[in-house]
Amino acid sequence: MAQLKDFPFPFTNDQYAYSNNSVQLDPAKTVTITDDYKKEIGLKRKLLHENNERCFRSLPISLESQWEVMVLIFSELASYSPDQFTFKKRGNDCLFQNHLLEEEESFIFRDSSSIDFEPLDVAGRHVQEDLIIMGDRHDGLFLEAGQLCFPSNWSLTFVHGMEFKSIHTPVPGIQKDGFINKVERFISKIAPGAAWERKNWSITVTNKLDTPLETYSEWGKHRKEVTAENAGELIHLRVEVQRLLRLPMNHDVLFTIHTYLLPLEKLIQNEDWLKIFYSNIKTLPEDIAEYKGILNYREELLRFLEAHLGKERMP
Ligand code: HEM
Repeated sequence: MAQLKDFPFPFTNDQYAYSNNSVQLDPAKTVTITDDYKKEIGLKRKLLHENNERCFRSLPISLESQWEVMVLIFSELASYSPDQFTFKKRGNDCLFQNHLLEEEESFIFRDSSSIDFEPLDVAGRHVQEDLIIMGDRHDGLFLEAGQLCFPSNWSLTFVHGMEFKSIHTPVPGIQKDGFINKVERFISKIAPGAAWERKNWSITVTNKLDTPLETYSEWGKHRKEVTAENAGELIHLRVEVQRLLRLPMNHDVLFTIHTYLLPLEKLIQNEDWLKIFYSNIKTLPEDIAEYKGILNYREELLRFLEAHLGKERMP
């Protein structure tokens, strides 16, 4: 669970609207190690073991990009966190050492028999991010491989092989004014080696990171339990820090998703965040509130926030 000081608070305006809030990153990094590293890696590996088909999918065409991603992530970890990771590549002989977990991966580049899982799956077991490879084909961007343990109510099984715009069909209003077409054009123009970052937000009731569509009946039912009295403890602002990087060798796109959860009782400790969060929830259009699963308990949530805003205003 993120602490207040490290939390990537996503709101910059009082009113929420879809936007391509991407900023270019310098240096072009794709992953971040936080204090929750060991806990989240443990959970990821458990999910991958127990629900492998739900958490990892790939098309054979993605294999070259998977190798590129694995080497890119291992190199990045070793360059930016040399005390925690090392990576050596001599010709095709590679050795990655994860000092945090006291593990190593010794493998031959592009030799599938030298690794226990597919390359994207190996890399993903060492980072907190979900990892998606979008193949850039002449007729669009296609989801060709993914290791997805912490989805916000979507299914890798469902979208596997799908084109970018079709993946976004369930999002209300996303076609309006050609928004999703513009986003796709933006992605297709990302230069080789460049990385961009944006934030997406939703709300999770309870502190569960793994909320796939497949297990909705287990976690979705908690949405009915929210009251103004328990909202501080139950409701968590869920933020995805999403990064897009154009693979220099294969020209596909790596999409990484780092999910952070912050309980409301911590969020309200920051007065500015409380005000802006309140205003966004209050003015959120009904179709988006429904899509994000907030509609049923929005009134209770607002009552909770108003009580705290009121306290702030008291002398
Ligand atoms: C290329 C990598 C991307 C992939 C694989 C991807 C995938 C997805 C998926 C699976 C969903 C959930 C759809 C559902 O409910 O079934 C989603 C939601 C969404 N995506 Fe993307 N997306 C990508 C990039 C982007 C970018 C770059 C933007 C905008 C600039 C964007 C905007 C959105 C928005 C606004 C939502 C609705 C989220 C919410 O309100 O909670 N996506 N995306």
